[in-house]
Amino acid sequence: MAKLEVNVDHVATVRQARLTDEPDPVTAAALAELAGASGIIVHLREDRRHIQDRDLRLLRQTVKTRLNLEMAATAEMLAIASEVKPDLVTLVPEKREELTTEGGLNVAGNLDFLKDYLRKLKEAGLEVSLFIDPDHGQINAAKEAGAGWVELHTGAYAEAENEDRAQRLFDELLDAARHARSLGLRVKCGHGLNYTNITRFRGRQEFEEFSIGHSIISRAVLVGLERAVREMLNLIA
Ligand code: PXP
Repeated sequence: MAKLEVNVDHVATVRQARLTDEPDPVTAAALAELAGASGIIVHLREDRRHIQDRDLRLLRQTVKTRLNLEMAATAEMLAIASEVKPDLVTLVPEKREELTTEGGLNVAGNLDFLKDYLRKLKEAGLEVSLFIDPDHGQINAAKEAGAGWVELHTGAYAEAENEDRAQRLFDELLDAARHARSLGLRVKCGHGLNYTNITRFRGRQEFEEFSIGHSIISRAVLVGLERAVREMLNLIA
């Protein structure tokens, strides 16, 4: 059965909107694990817009499944990952202006740099995944760079404007996953997956794990709202 890693960044987004201490992504991670998540993902961004260094350090102490740290391939992040030692490091491209990670990492175009960067991560004892578009050239480069995993970017599939295009992009993802597995890479996928577009993936063996954040946190807000209002009404009654 495919596994689900839950990204708790947007719990931190709500907290940072008030620069306060709730909701805590560390508590959210524990609840996600109790519900069956196979791992917890956080993206420590250069601008610290949601997850903070404190979150990462506490999660390292409390996560009982696997902690997956998404990060840009910078010197600062290399130092943090080497010290905190997440179970998996996922390298993603990062731009300050973007709302979320916009595209896959250009591994083929930065092969020498990434080979060297992955060598340093491995020397620190870290396992590495590369977030890439479902493209054979990028998959081959990920293998050459020394990654153990690739995470295939499902954003284009998730944003497809009609069913035909969604099916075509889904077939591309399947083909890319098979190609990656044929090279001995482990395959996960994510970005923009939600309660509707996930159904095409049901029962597929090509993907070992799904990485989902925004739709799960969005749903949690709505399914939890009635209870939250009732609890407050009870307190003021
Ligand atoms: N995988 C990667 C590499 C990401 O950057 C993100 C977004 O943080 C996700 C998965 C999860 O995407 P979403 O929040 O749209 O589910």
